[in-house]
Amino acid sequence: MKFVNQIILGDCEQVLKSIPNDSVDLIFTSPPYADQRKTTYGGVKPDEYVDWFMPKAQEFYRVLKPKGTFILNIKERVVNGERHTYVIELILRMREAGWLWTEEFIWHKKNSYPGKWPNRFRDNWERLIQFNKNRKFKMYQEAVMVPVGDWAKDRLNNLSDTDKKRDESKVGSGFGKNISNWVGRNEVYPNNVLYLATECSNRNHSAAFPIDLPSWFIKLFTQPNDLVLDPFIGSGTTAVAAIQLGRKYLGIDTEQEYVELSNERLLDTQIRLPIIAENQEEYKTDNIEG
Ligand SMILES: C[S@@+](CC[C@H](N)C(=O)[O-])C[C@H]1O[C@@H](n2cnc3c(N)ncnc32)[C@H](O)[C@@H]1O
Repeated sequence: MKFVNQIILGDCEQVLKSIPNDSVDLIFTSPPYADQRKTTYGGVKPDEYVDWFMPKAQEFYRVLKPKGTFILNIKERVVNGERHTYVIELILRMREAGWLWTEEFIWHKKNSYPGKWPNRFRDNWERLIQFNKNRKFKMYQEAVMVPVGDWAKDRLNNLSDTDKKRDESKVGSGFGKNISNWVGRNEVYPNNVLYLATECSNRNHSAAFPIDLPSWFIKLFTQPNDLVLDPFIGSGTTAVAAIQLGRKYLGIDTEQEYVELSNERLLDTQIRLPIIAENQEEYKTDNIEG
């Protein structure tokens, strides 16, 4: 495909029309948030957000492979003293359009700075909403395992009788657990909360996310040589994460300066790739708390 490993200038809805059906393994993106940051790259009004997004989502659906995943990083803003409902409405419209709302992850921001608001506290998390085309999708859980952690020393050394057999849920939810299964293991599966610092190193884009965010999802939902699409690429973070992990990328942005910024970062990453490869083991679990 001629667009592979490129950052393309344009509106993603238009650019994607040239991309074949079922060609992308993972879509990972953070679109412009409703009405925010108007001065930098044009906001979309909260009331119009869903209508603005859905034609783009239709193209995402078409280009995503049947077993691929779409991760949407988004957060509802406060309008007139309450949280606007555009994210909730978006999820409902996505379901009407055929998407499955499979899961939701939380990005818990490690280093957001303190503040005082009259009627709420500092906003310290964002949503990462997982959409799929099918119930069976590709997922490589072993790629994101985390060290078992200190809790295991106390908990697993003192197993009660209940711990030694499967403990069925008391409320009849059907979710049981068998704690003893985890004795002697160094790594466990993570949970759905990612505890990561906000981006500090990249000051050339006002809304860049930390590279560990796309990296974690790229490892979870793709294999080497798979194609990762970020239709709102900004400073190129998703593409950088993709090449660091040996995946292909496709990035799109309406702003020339962000296309150039992405290409500069990608060039720099390619030059440093051998060093990145040497540090790969350490990189694997850094900054992700289970
Ligand atoms: C929240 S930022 C993405 C930041 C990115 N995750 C990063 O780490 O730098 C959203 C980006 O979408 C771009 N954008 C806005 N409307 C677009 C459209 N219709 N098609 C493609 N890109 C668009 C903006 O220029 C902006 O760079």
